[in-house]
Amino acid sequence: MTGSVMKISWSECLCLILLLLQQTTVSTLESFEVLGPADPVVAVAGEDVVLPCYLKPNISAVDLSVEWFRVQTKDPLVHLYRDHEDRNEKQIPSYRRRTSLFPEELRNGNTSLKVKNLRGSDNGEYKCLVQSGKFYDDSSIEVLIKAVGTQPVISIEGYKEGGISLVCESKGWYPQPQVLWMDSEGHSLPAGHTETHTDSMDLFILRRRVIVQETEINRFTCRVLQEDLNEIKETMTEIPGEMFHRAHPWKVTFAVIFSLSAVGIIGCTVLIHRFVKLRQKRAQIKEQYGK
Ligand SMILES: *[C@@H]1O[C@H](CO)[C@@H](O)[C@H](O)[C@H]1NC(C)=O
Ligand SMILES: *[C@@H]1O[C@H](CO)[C@@H](O)[C@H](O)[C@H]1NC(C)=O
Repeated sequence: MTGSVMKISWSECLCLILLLLQQTTVSTLESFEVLGPADPVVAVAGEDVVLPCYLKPNISAVDLSVEWFRVQTKDPLVHLYRDHEDRNEKQIPSYRRRTSLFPEELRNGNTSLKVKNLRGSDNGEYKCLVQSGKFYDDSSIEVLIKAVGTQPVISIEGYKEGGISLVCESKGWYPQPQVLWMDSEGHSLPAGHTETHTDSMDLFILRRRVIVQETEINRFTCRVLQEDLNEIKETMTEIPGEMFHRAHPWKVTFAVIFSLSAVGIIGCTVLIHRFVKLRQKRAQIKEQYGK
């Protein structure tokens, strides 16, 4: 009797253990880690990039939800895959038609995101979040966009504040570079603030003015410097000295008056000289005839 009771409780026990084992297996199957690159992903504006993200262990993500979003923005959705399809109605508008997952790769737990035709505004931190029922994990990915801009262009704006106003412009930079004006010896010139705009690709357009005065060598350089990218682009211009004289109308007037009076003075001297000589001659003649 007792023996059979014992047997039942043993088999019950075995059942319980099996049940427990099964549950742990299920829960380990449901849990996973989401992994990404340790280092920032550096990418060039205008090109395409793959932002790596994958599951460990290597389970299929086909039936899971995969959400890519920006960190520290209000409506941060970059890409959403849920219920076996992309659901990008609430995507940040600037990402429209530029993002995709790799459908064949989802089976291997690869939830990497492709972003096409990169823009300056794609720079920053992203999160890849994978969810299975109540379980989820995420991974952060930092994207650094780089774009080397155009050779600066210098143009002469006109006369201003007793000097000549020059403008330097360079386009297509990311991140934002510095713009410096320098004289012929490489000394930095005091210039106005740098005007900054962005183009349709969210890259920087920079413009900076300087008012230059005449120096010995009227050579001025505009330097655009992006230290993170280790990039320098510079353009030099030489202004003819005569242009500066028009910058100071009083200088011209002074020069005219000065040269006129110089002519006058010389003229007077000659006249006086002649007059004196004439008088001397007359005196001589008078003396001769007087005798
Ligand atoms: C992931 O799974 C696929 C098969 O489903 C296999 O070919 C691949 O080697 C696995 N990758 C890793 C990192 O285990
Ligand atoms: C995921 O898929 C992309 C695109 O095919 C590939 O470049 C990347 O190496 C894959 N990552 C992993 C971890 O398999």
